[in-house]
Amino acid sequence: MNVEREKRLSAEAAAGLVEDGMIVGLGTGSTVGYLLPALARRRLSISCVATSPRTKRAALELGLDVRPFDIVDHLDMTIDGADQIAPDGWLVKGGGGAHTREKIVAAAASRFVVIGDSRKPVEVIRAPIPLELLEFGLSATLRRLGPALVREAPKSPDGGILADYHGDVGNPARLSERLSATPGVVGHGLFPPELVTEVLVGHGDSVERRT
Ligand code: 5RP
Repeated sequence: MNVEREKRLSAEAAAGLVEDGMIVGLGTGSTVGYLLPALARRRLSISCVATSPRTKRAALELGLDVRPFDIVDHLDMTIDGADQIAPDGWLVKGGGGAHTREKIVAAAASRFVVIGDSRKPVEVIRAPIPLELLEFGLSATLRRLGPALVREAPKSPDGGILADYHGDVGNPARLSERLSATPGVVGHGLFPPELVTEVLVGHGDSVERRT
């Protein structure tokens, strides 16, 4: 299995879905690292919104037109990687800590296209589930969450503390509801199937497409 090749193939397949005139949300991570040059090579007339400073920098260096999210009222398509992709469409994202912004940008798009290599599909979603927590009341939030560990990582660009939930996942919908309802949780990395339009997974020399 050549993981880097699989990432590149899935990213190139996603870049092929983008059309002239679109406003495109750009995710974060190493698979998106292959998407950006593939998009730039197509020389389309598109505008982009980035989910992280890292993606913004890389996109600008490649000559892509990156706009502030707040001046864009609708995204045609968002393309992003994932850490886990379940058969029922639930995703785990946030290995790179950008999940809060990534969820907002995915939710703002008409189509959310997920890209990844063949290690990403899983039978069952498992911990860790990435979290972004408010710094105020952090100890209380962690006690309420149960098994969760703060990452040794810089804060998010929005000042959030990055952490991971390490308890049982069980039903992702129920855990997602509980995490969202926990005071102090700014965002979490469980993405529901309703957000996802299609999934492009590199497998060896080809790309499996799930809608
Ligand atoms: C960042 C993310 C990434 O999309 C996810 O971690 C996958 O990353 P990679 O493409 O490097 O495997 O959610 O917050």
